[in-house]
Amino acid sequence: MKIVMIGSGYVGLVTGACFSEFGFDVTCVDIDTKKIENLNKGIIPIYEPGLDALVHKGIQTQKLAFTTQLKDVIHDADIVMIAVGTPTNESDGQADLGYVFKAIADITPHMDDYTVIVTKSTVPVGTGKKIVELIHNLRPEYREGVDFDVVSNPEFLREGSAIEDFMKPDRVVVGTSSPLAKKMMQKLYHPLHLMETPILITDRNTSELIKYAANGFLALKIAFINEMADLCEIVNGEVNDLAKGIGLDNRIGQKFLNAGPGFGGSCFPKDTRALASTAHSLNKPSLLIDSVIQSNESRKDSLIERVQSEIQIKKEILNRKINVSILGITFKANTDDIREAISLKMIPALLKNDVSVKIYDPMYYKNSDRLQHLKDYANDWVDQVDFANSVNNAFENADIVVFLTEWNEFRGLNLKKLYKTMAISNLSPGVLIDYRNLFDKEDARDFRFVTIGRKT
Ligand code: UGA
Repeated sequence: MKIVMIGSGYVGLVTGACFSEFGFDVTCVDIDTKKIENLNKGIIPIYEPGLDALVHKGIQTQKLAFTTQLKDVIHDADIVMIAVGTPTNESDGQADLGYVFKAIADITPHMDDYTVIVTKSTVPVGTGKKIVELIHNLRPEYREGVDFDVVSNPEFLREGSAIEDFMKPDRVVVGTSSPLAKKMMQKLYHPLHLMETPILITDRNTSELIKYAANGFLALKIAFINEMADLCEIVNGEVNDLAKGIGLDNRIGQKFLNAGPGFGGSCFPKDTRALASTAHSLNKPSLLIDSVIQSNESRKDSLIERVQSEIQIKKEILNRKINVSILGITFKANTDDIREAISLKMIPALLKNDVSVKIYDPMYYKNSDRLQHLKDYANDWVDQVDFANSVNNAFENADIVVFLTEWNEFRGLNLKKLYKTMAISNLSPGVLIDYRNLFDKEDARDFRFVTIGRKT
């Protein structure tokens, strides 16, 4: 079976590489010539554990190819997957479908025989129908269910564990009412079916909605535990115990109950906004999702204020510029993705307060190649901060250290030793702000320890 993947970003690349591992012939297409040139040389544009090995293997076995020449590969494709971006449309919060429709317009003239078009991109309910209408407009003689079908097949891949999520998914969701398309999709997912992965086949609208409902529900879980963390702080409780206490109830489940600095990334913020917008446009606003968005934004603001107030205390005692080190600037660990990370809001806010900021991130350390990508998100402040090339270097002379992500290399730190390298005095102990609950209170006893949802 021949698969063409339109869009060689995060989802397209991971999905394409994994299908090639299953033995399908996959060609990934992208308009970015440099990216395709690099991919053909085995150079991967993103950090995703295990992806480089899969891509190299795919290239070697000739199961995986990369091209910018869409028209050369569409005519003999059995399945064309759309994995282009659907960013937030600033005017109404809805997903911008410009890239999706452009991809459809590009492939439609070149389709031959029966072709299944699969939306992997996260698209609002009703998009599949709009794609069918677009194809009809472009090629009126082309018949749905005979010459082509449009199927929804959302992805549930987490950055940082995407390969594992693909190879061992909790489920696969397929949205189609066409018997022909259903058969093709069953063939495509046969390798996972053999491993007893539940494959849910439903109608296209429901499938499109499932993706948003899943991300909306997970975002809700995070916003909920973060609000419970606030309550724990007031009553001197322990949010980790609370999470366990509710999570051991199988109806609730233990996963996704880690209190933290609010959710970020390219998915939850965008998808909750789009879901809220869809619900509003259907005249059935989702009070829950509206609140989740609000709760998450105000969480980020209040955790930034907490850092600001620690800075203020230091300023009053020391009467000089305060040195703050931020550890982890991506939206979570195991990724180089910085989109909608709390760091993007926190760092400019601190700089406005005349604070010296040093950053350490395993992906964005001093002299790392990726530093130039940061400019896309942080152009107005990146030149005003310093970069450390190790955790030790980040602690040296810092007044306050703030942990924003949960990389494994942060977990086993010798805090006692690191404390001594900070700018400390009897009047003013070093401050450790742990927004991922990485450290034990006992290990952090030298510091003024700020943590979330725990007894202090
Ligand atoms: C998320 C979903 O988990 C995937 O299933 C989905 O396919 C993907 O979005 C998508 O729509 O493409 P991802 O954004 O990579 O994946 O990251 P998550 O691991 O879900 O984390 C999202 C945010 O929630 C991060 O900021 C993370 O730090 C935060 N989080 C997560 C918490 O604060 N607490 C938790 O318990 C879990």
